[in-house]
Amino acid sequence: MAKLRVGIAGLGTVGAGVVKLFAGGHARLCDKLDLVAVSARDRTRSRGVDLSAYRWVDDPVALAADPSIDIFVELMGGAEGTAKAAVETALSRGAHVVTANKALLALHGARLAQLSEKHGGKLLFEAAVGGGVPMVKALKEAVAGCRAHAVTGILNGTCNYILTEMEASGRSFADVLAEAQRLGYAEADPTTDVGGFDAAHKLTILSAIAFGTLPDYDHVRIEGIERVSRTDIQMAGKLGYRIKLIAKGALTEQGVEMHVRPALLALDHPLANVNGSLNALVVDAEPAGQLTFIGRGAGEGPTAASVASDLIELAEGRAGYPFARPLAQLASPPRATPAERGRYYVRLMVIDRPGVVAAISDRLAHEQISIESFLQMPAGEEPAVPIVLTTQACARAPVEAALKAIQALDVTTEAPYLMPVEQPAVRFGR
Ligand code: HSE
Repeated sequence: MAKLRVGIAGLGTVGAGVVKLFAGGHARLCDKLDLVAVSARDRTRSRGVDLSAYRWVDDPVALAADPSIDIFVELMGGAEGTAKAAVETALSRGAHVVTANKALLALHGARLAQLSEKHGGKLLFEAAVGGGVPMVKALKEAVAGCRAHAVTGILNGTCNYILTEMEASGRSFADVLAEAQRLGYAEADPTTDVGGFDAAHKLTILSAIAFGTLPDYDHVRIEGIERVSRTDIQMAGKLGYRIKLIAKGALTEQGVEMHVRPALLALDHPLANVNGSLNALVVDAEPAGQLTFIGRGAGEGPTAASVASDLIELAEGRAGYPFARPLAQLASPPRATPAERGRYYVRLMVIDRPGVVAAISDRLAHEQISIESFLQMPAGEEPAVPIVLTTQACARAPVEAALKAIQALDVTTEAPYLMPVEQPAVRFGR
């Protein structure tokens, strides 16, 4: 059988990693696939691999349109512009597409799936989520016979690295971020990562596959890690928790609920010890029970390996629907925003004077909030001292009401910071 001809657009870390796999003669890849053409912005840049064997195409959309290319690999990134145009071009002529572009899939996944179904080209994107961790394949294949209730993940390595370093070194968010930028672990503009948007793109994709719904990025409630302070990390530790940026999708009686936000995890939570740049996903599904997938969430090797696994899936004729089911079967469930309930962590920066704690307690009591633990840091050189408390299980709304009333007391120097204590994931068979 003739080999499938591959064209790669985008020769950054991941693209170069995929070329290296071809150049290294990886058997299962090279037996059925030929890399024939590449495209990138700068032809002169050294990428640590010889590109002379491959046809160079300046315009990625022209590469996508080239009828001699069977599989167009898009590794440029960006939800709009050239990447979108190129992927649409390839799918519209019935070519297969492999991409690592989570923003494109989160925002335009339904349209791309439609083009794939209409023209017959497959669309695969294991590398878009979790780097080398097979999260997409896990949901499409491993739990295909299950009903998924929740997907809970650490999906952004940059945030996880920053939070881990803050804990290990006692340094501030700003310090650790600056260092991560110097070392090339964080982008010059870190907003997409630290603001929670990258994790939200990935969660959108995973939720669509897990719950059989159309990708619905606009429904994800997103909060980043920018306000997590040294004090929060330290206090959470004293209370037996670790702070993580958690991306969670859940199928509730009201519909699908999706959020990305920092949360406190008890140390026995399956995600509490996923540190540094690792990514992980916990899937709660019946009747399989709870499954955890963990590994390196970014970088050349892991992400190129995921691209290669998609290429081999195509070459071996195993590829199915982009979101596991035909588009017509994907639902648009109600956008659930269930009234939240649980335990909460609150940090208040207060002026250190008699009566402040009594006034705070009074406002909490007024909302029937019962305090589980209460810690005050010794006064330092700052005019304000941190007070940290956790609540017993309660609804979130009265906690927010109490915090509003506390702010109105004129004893706080900045807005209170509220984080949920992550509920243990649903466990089956206990
Ligand atoms: N920027 C991502 C992260 C890696 O920090 O996890 C690519 O998805």
